[in-house]
Amino acid sequence: MLRKLFYLINFSLLAFFLLAIRQDARRGWKKYQSRYYRMEIARLEQELAQSSDPGKRERIQEEIRRWRSMGLQIRQIILRDFDRVDRCITCHVGMDPFANPSLTNSFTENPYQAHPGKLSSSHPFPRYGCTLCHQGQGLATEVAAAHGAVRHWERPLLKPPYLAASCARCHVNFEELPGAKAAALGKDLFDKLGCVGCHAVNGEGGAVSVDLGDVADKPLGRVDFSYTGLAREEWSVKNWIELHLTRDPMEIVPNDPQGKFGEPIPPSGMPPFYRELQPSQAQALTAYLLSLSHESVPHEYYVYASPKPKPRFANPVEHGRYVFHKYGCQGCHGIGGARGVRNFNALGPDQTRMDQGAEPTLTKVVGTYTREELKEKIRNGVPSSAVVKFNPEGPIPPLYMPPWKDKIQGRELEDLVTYLLSIAEKGQWW
Ligand code: HEC
Ligand code: HEC
Ligand code: HEC
Ligand code: HEC
Ligand code: HEC
Repeated sequence: MLRKLFYLINFSLLAFFLLAIRQDARRGWKKYQSRYYRMEIARLEQELAQSSDPGKRERIQEEIRRWRSMGLQIRQIILRDFDRVDRCITCHVGMDPFANPSLTNSFTENPYQAHPGKLSSSHPFPRYGCTLCHQGQGLATEVAAAHGAVRHWERPLLKPPYLAASCARCHVNFEELPGAKAAALGKDLFDKLGCVGCHAVNGEGGAVSVDLGDVADKPLGRVDFSYTGLAREEWSVKNWIELHLTRDPMEIVPNDPQGKFGEPIPPSGMPPFYRELQPSQAQALTAYLLSLSHESVPHEYYVYASPKPKPRFANPVEHGRYVFHKYGCQGCHGIGGARGVRNFNALGPDQTRMDQGAEPTLTKVVGTYTREELKEKIRNGVPSSAVVKFNPEGPIPPLYMPPWKDKIQGRELEDLVTYLLSIAEKGQWW
């Protein structure tokens, strides 16, 4: 009996051992690496056949010997300043500064090609590795895992235009950086559309919704993808952000407006930006938000921007328009105060459904107020409980007028009010 058990155990050990050897031989990276060596050798042999200069032939033969003697091995870059190890060059051998010191080759296919562009001179790979720009899972040596296209890896490979997010993490000057256009365009749109009226960024801005300063680092476990229709492999913070700009937020965050499970909760109060944004603009905004990661970067890897000159204004109305944009009033009242955004279940004119509620269109209403009344509105805001409901049984509308208190005061407040009065539609003017 014992002897039988002994044989059985030995047999299974042998079987596992053989299986392990087979698995090892089939590892993706060995296939790519040996193919790369063969490609280099074939290229050199062709060069050799065409060359008659003895000195040059000698050099080529030396090169061939070098590639022949290179064993299959895990190749890696250790980034001590970042506590990471990037093994991408195990497959992307043409980008390994030790195997291919010139960092150029004539191959056009991945993972064999050399790195496109000139970034490797300003960001030497031995110091920058790959994942600081591309994300992905540096330690992994299989394609899907390395590219981060697996569950539980929250930073999948970034491709252009999203790749600009990485540039902007280090380059505080990204607005002038040629390779980071998407992030610059995204920041511009973020300011123009008044996202900051509802969302703070690192504490600066509105408190109506979440602070977006760390949305790039949001753990996927805290995101509810159930209404997005995304396949599980596509769950990522990048897609979550982008969906807020390419789909109606009310669809992806529907909540419980009918009160089926208790107090009614309104759907997402985020305006339907998808109606006006081009796909490239949504990508740019996404790239910008991804750049706001709190992942720490040692200060010597930062490139600072020169301070911008203070803007100057021709008159109080111009300054007031600037103040209106600075605080993101247009996020709720539309650009130039010309169109109040949707506010679920708020009472509006000509309304037949809860989802037709909207914020006030300022051009239509500000003319009915005096300067002092406007200042009071801005200082004290209007709490959600005071926003009149369309359906009294329905949820409290998600958006309210934030109390700006002392945040807007003095010259800013005076000129803001002057601007508001200047946009009032004619005929309503006092
Ligand atoms: C096991 C081999 C392997 C490893 C390790 C690997 N790659 Fe790749 N990579 C490939 C292959 C094969 C392709 C081409 C096919 C594809 O895109 O899946 C590729 C393509 C790419 C592309 C182009 C993708 C596209 O769709 O245009 C990028 C960028 C890239 N890899 C970056 C990385 C980075 C960064 C790492 C390290 C975190 C890495 N790779 C690690 C094998 C690998
Ligand atoms: C400084 C940032 C930066 C670093 C560091 C960096 N890359 Fe890139 N990489 C880029 C950019 C930007 C592009 C797109 C350039 C272009 O298309 O001209 C790119 C393109 C690529 C591509 C080609 C993608 C395609 O569409 O064919 C691959 C593959 C790739 N990188 C892999 C790597 C690997 C592997 C490393 C590490 C050895 C690395 N990169 C390091 C920024 C970087
Ligand atoms: C980990 C931080 C980091 C990342 C990520 C990064 N850079 Fe840089 N980059 C630097 C530093 C630091 C320098 C300055 C190097 C020097 O002074 O020699 C630099 C230099 C440059 C330069 C040379 C000109 C200049 O302004 O000094 C360009 C162009 C550039 N980066 C573009 C990019 C682009 C495009 C990306 C994104 C694909 C990117 N960088 C990603 C840190 C980074
Ligand atoms: C009128 C107020 C309002 C404005 C303006 C607004 N949002 Fe939102 N946003 C919300 C609310 C409320 C939520 C939370 C519910 C949800 O996830 O949709 C939200 C959620 C988000 C989320 C998901 C955050 C997370 O942690 O899950 C992102 C990303 C986002 N907004 C981006 C933007 C961008 C970019 C803009 C500007 C183009 C913007 N928002 C403008 C109200 C607003
Ligand atoms: C998060 C959304 C939001 C933001 C940001 C916002 N408001 Fe409002 N605002 C509202 C809502 C909701 C009301 C209407 C409250 C009510 O029903 O009485 C309102 C009302 C007003 C009114 C009174 C209009 C009326 O019909 O009674 C003025 C004036 C006004 N806002 C100005 C501003 C200014 C100026 C800013 C920027 C400093 C701003 N708002 C930012 C949501 C917002």
